[in-house]
Amino acid sequence: MNTIIEPFRIKTVEPIRMTSVAERENILCDAGYNLFSIASRDVLIDLLTDSGTGAMSTKQWAAIMQGDESYAGSPSFKRFEAAVQNLFPFTHIIPTHQGRAAEAILFSIMGGAGRHIPSNTHFDTTRGNVEATGAEAHDLVIEEGKDPQNQHPFKGNMDVNRLDEFLLEYKGKVPCVMLTVTNNAGGGQPVSLENIRATRAIAKKHGLPFIIDACRFAENAWFIKLREPGQQDRSITDIVRDMFEGADGMTMSAKKDAFANIGGWLALNDSELAEKARTRLILTEGFPTYGGLAGRDLEAIAQGLAEIVDEDYLRYRVAVNEYIGRRLEDMDVPIVKPVGGHAVFIDARAFLPHIEPLHYPGQSLACEMYRVSGVRACEIGTVMFGRKPDGSEHPAAMDLVRLAIPRRTYTQSHADYMLERIADIARNKDKLRGMRITWEPPAMRHFTAKFEMMAD
Ligand code: F0G
Repeated sequence: MNTIIEPFRIKTVEPIRMTSVAERENILCDAGYNLFSIASRDVLIDLLTDSGTGAMSTKQWAAIMQGDESYAGSPSFKRFEAAVQNLFPFTHIIPTHQGRAAEAILFSIMGGAGRHIPSNTHFDTTRGNVEATGAEAHDLVIEEGKDPQNQHPFKGNMDVNRLDEFLLEYKGKVPCVMLTVTNNAGGGQPVSLENIRATRAIAKKHGLPFIIDACRFAENAWFIKLREPGQQDRSITDIVRDMFEGADGMTMSAKKDAFANIGGWLALNDSELAEKARTRLILTEGFPTYGGLAGRDLEAIAQGLAEIVDEDYLRYRVAVNEYIGRRLEDMDVPIVKPVGGHAVFIDARAFLPHIEPLHYPGQSLACEMYRVSGVRACEIGTVMFGRKPDGSEHPAAMDLVRLAIPRRTYTQSHADYMLERIADIARNKDKLRGMRITWEPPAMRHFTAKFEMMAD
């Protein structure tokens, strides 16, 4: 096995504050066992999200100094627009402060009561923005995508036959077809070029716009290059252009595959729709040449887009996850397979079968990881999805713990340290206890709920 090195050297460092197990026990208790309530200075390795947490390059920091902060007509917008259009050939590029702002603008135009919006799997904020308009969000991912052990190479694929039936069933009530690449909610799983084209063809057959949620487009393109027949000799840029060919729009969070700490955009071809979107943008984000961003942010994104398609980076990016996944499997810690582009997901329900889903095995494992190692991960399971709008509580489809890997931020010894501590947990896993919620808000409880450990 050849070692794949981090394809960068480190010029600026951000010290990590070391904490002891005893300190972290107190911190956990004070936080009501909710990892979102812990201050980042109390975290050793933060794997809560890969969003906006990456390290910028020397060229990005240099580009920031070129930021032109004019209200209208900034050249930074022109550089941003050119960098976006170089990869994604859309007519109208509308900057927003992050991905969810692009979603909110899109669905303020396309959503509304009685409408239905299909995707492979909507990310939480996309679903939230669809539902906030009174519309309904539907997930039509292939069956293989729902099975954590299935090794299908493109588990993010849309079930195109179901999509076709769905569009007949809801004829006249569907404003667009969406597709998320990679499929974050399904484990960071990619969508094949063939499936992107098939989804687009079905949308066209029904006369509907096809819109891609493109947050992790470069990771998706890398998986296409690795796994899809005939794609091995092609450049990532060419694959990305093919992925977006014939699409009618995209929503994007620049906090992922644009190497920025903030930013996003909505891209559209239809001029009438774009006009409506810009009107909304001025009300909620800002003037169309800066959206919700500073000129310097637009510069960082433009440079980030030039760097994200680098194959040495993408090879390393996916190798990190594969390495963590392989070592977890070697210690019999069950994971979602194959590992995704931006994260490794531990199957906490399978790992801790003695903890019932309604006692939150994912939360219990995430808290134990923080206690023994100072690593902050994120429960994606019954805490996040278990409470229904009618007040009832049900186990989520899966109880996972997501280890989301920030871009270019940690090194292999950070991963090794975390894996050693997980090995300690695995040896004593029968001692982990379930949890109970002592307080929760009416919605989105995972951000603020308070927990306690159950007695032995
Ligand atoms: N779409 C997908 C697939 C996402 O993963 C996210 C964010 C968004 C849209 C929204 O973008 O955060 O810029 O508003 N995902 C982050 C995560 C928060 O941790 O997975 P945003």
